[in-house]
Amino acid sequence: MTDPSPPVRLSARLRDVRGSAIRDLLALTARPDVISLAGGLPGTDLLPRDRVAAALATAAADPAAVQYGETAGLRRLREVLAAVEGERLGRPLAAADVVVTSGSQQALDLVARATLDPGDPVVVEDPAYVGALQVFQAAGAALHAVPVDGGGMAVDVLAARLAAGLRPALVHTVSSFHNPTGATLAPERRAALAGLADRYGFLVVEDDPYGRLAFDGRAPVPVAAHGSRVVRLGSASKVLAPALRVGWLTGPAPLLAAVERLKQCTDLCGSTLAQSVAADLLADTPWFTAHLAALRAALRDRATALTDAVRTHFGPALTWQDPSGGMFCWVTFTDGTRPADLLPGALEHGVGFVPGTAFAAGADAHGHAMRLCFASNPPSRLRTALRRLAAAGGRPAVPAT
Ligand SMILES: Cc1ncc(COP(=O)(O)O)c(C=O)c1O
Repeated sequence: MTDPSPPVRLSARLRDVRGSAIRDLLALTARPDVISLAGGLPGTDLLPRDRVAAALATAAADPAAVQYGETAGLRRLREVLAAVEGERLGRPLAAADVVVTSGSQQALDLVARATLDPGDPVVVEDPAYVGALQVFQAAGAALHAVPVDGGGMAVDVLAARLAAGLRPALVHTVSSFHNPTGATLAPERRAALAGLADRYGFLVVEDDPYGRLAFDGRAPVPVAAHGSRVVRLGSASKVLAPALRVGWLTGPAPLLAAVERLKQCTDLCGSTLAQSVAADLLADTPWFTAHLAALRAALRDRATALTDAVRTHFGPALTWQDPSGGMFCWVTFTDGTRPADLLPGALEHGVGFVPGTAFAAGADAHGHAMRLCFASNPPSRLRTALRRLAAAGGRPAVPAT
């Protein structure tokens, strides 16, 4: 009988790629008895399934929508995205200025592959979006961590490192409603970052899937509005539906051409059907505007329910910055509790979250913090989740109100 799993020689670059603790955790939190605050999943109840179904039916009737498409993406979608992105940037964009990818994760991977050689320095935020760490590890980059505070990436720390000689190829930032901290890069830091890119010749990767989820409806002005050495990544995942796997990038033309060439190697083209649906939904301005407004209102309600419940059950034992958009609240224990130690008991009590250590860009850090996603569950379940978390932590029960 042949060995069912013979040894396979894997590439050297794979050795440096850490598995995502979050993706591993998702298997545990998928249990029906667990309320998950762990994944960065938009609430299924907030996804526009009826509108997607209608667009899918229309698309499927079009022979072109079940055929291969252009590598750079469906022209109709690129035109809509050029209009949407151009409005945010405050300058007109053409369809040729946009490449559509399979989620913004693919855009990140293709940008890294297009620009990095093994050993190239890349600046990441700390704590960082884990998907970015994995991409840069796979590219063999030398990671340099810059801290994130309440105003987003500490651009003054980056400036000091650059002045001391650091010469990164890329600087990655989740500029708005950061994953995992929820922080938004302050306006003056945005301008300063774009200025540093021009001065030192690096490329900023502005990873922005959450910008349009500002609770006050005012999407922050992108870093890319302040300079030309910025590649902007966008996504339909958090504003329409993750299953569409529609992301996009805009940026310097030679980079877009390189990404398109690499995408030919990767998947020839994205799903024409999914892109048709995304184009239909994004082009339906009255519907999309109303949908976004309802989504932001629901997310604001969920964020408030979560932070109220945290305050009720944990009092001063936890600190956080109230979310002003996006999907995440980053809370830190002040009493020495380590969330990684709390997690097994929490899962037993039926609640999941991600310990801060999972987002550490360098060695063991963020040991007292955890990321709570408020987007996936309605307020009543968030309140139940926090009651369970408090019970797991041995905190006195607070009667339900
Ligand atoms: C900061 C950030 N970038 C990129 C992604 C990937 O999104 P997608 O590939 O679904 O567009 C995520 C997903 O959670 C994210 O948080």
